[in-house]
Amino acid sequence: MKKKRLLIVLLALAMAMSFALSACGNKDKGDDAADSGDSGDAAASVLVGSCIYKFDDTFMTGVRNQMQATADELGADLEIVDSQNKQPTQNEQVDTYITKGVNALAINAVDRTAAGPILDKAKAADIPIVFLNREPEADVMQSYDKVWYVGAKAEESGTMSGEIIVDYFKAHPEADKNGDGIIQYVMLQGEPGHQDATLRSEFSITAIKDAGFGVENLGTDTAMWDKAKGTDLMTNFIASNGLDKIEAVLANNDDMGLGAIEALKAEGYNKGDADKYIPVVGVDATAPALEAMKDGSLLGTVLNDAVNQGRATVNISVAAANGDAIDEATIGYTVTDSKYVWIPYVKVTADNYQDYL
Ligand code: GAL
Repeated sequence: MKKKRLLIVLLALAMAMSFALSACGNKDKGDDAADSGDSGDAAASVLVGSCIYKFDDTFMTGVRNQMQATADELGADLEIVDSQNKQPTQNEQVDTYITKGVNALAINAVDRTAAGPILDKAKAADIPIVFLNREPEADVMQSYDKVWYVGAKAEESGTMSGEIIVDYFKAHPEADKNGDGIIQYVMLQGEPGHQDATLRSEFSITAIKDAGFGVENLGTDTAMWDKAKGTDLMTNFIASNGLDKIEAVLANNDDMGLGAIEALKAEGYNKGDADKYIPVVGVDATAPALEAMKDGSLLGTVLNDAVNQGRATVNISVAAANGDAIDEATIGYTVTDSKYVWIPYVKVTADNYQDYL
């Protein structure tokens, strides 16, 4: 009997020890910023208020999930609300956060040109503010010493998606269906005015031209980052041009690219028959996009690193709330011009997509 009790006590002790060890392990997994400086205990009293332009956005959902995970690792409180794609709603949410006394704001603006008035509210209340994903104008960024931006260089992703198309046409000369040496393409764009829509569109085409290909635009329009709108738009492009004319599809993000693939599939394309295939390229490397690369319907994409964008946003918010300097030592990321954290894009092709699945 006694032996049994001793066994139970030993077992309980072993469990407690393994729990303590795994807790240490988790802490170590957090980036350096979590462990360096004085974030630990101080973070416990920090409240960060965040607005995301809309929750129903695949890429921003990845960023949002990581923000929560990082706040949990740091022991900070993070509230995140859905601005439902309405700027007036977001402005009110920011007012509510300020009244509540948040220690930092992390804002994914609905309209990036509305960042100025939001910044003014933060400044008047002397609260640090981090914008993410939708880049404020440079003069707005210069108007406060406690504002930072976390994002990725849109032009980089444009260049990479253009290069994916170039490599495909070099490896498959038959993709130039009419043999005219010119790539006839359609372009599905993100939201007008969004830096990622403008620059990805521009730089993808520049990369194709720089590689020596001619280009002809058969149609360009917005599908607002949205998969269903992408399907509708591609259906229109097919109807107005005919499938035989379209040689490439460039989408500013994966959701729209996947939407375009739905429209192609409805015509029997991109379903495995080599004669019925049009290369489609997106940006983000979302889970469904990687699956589409696996089944061969999507040619390629570009990793838009939601994990590091989410983590950097919260690391800055917590460090700034604690009054720490914002630099690589405190947040674990390089800070450019004292204000910008740029997370690199990565080209995702048949060669490496499995690393991200
Ligand atoms: C882009 C991303 C899009 C969409 C947009 C929202 O960076 O590629 O999929 O999430 O941000 O602002």
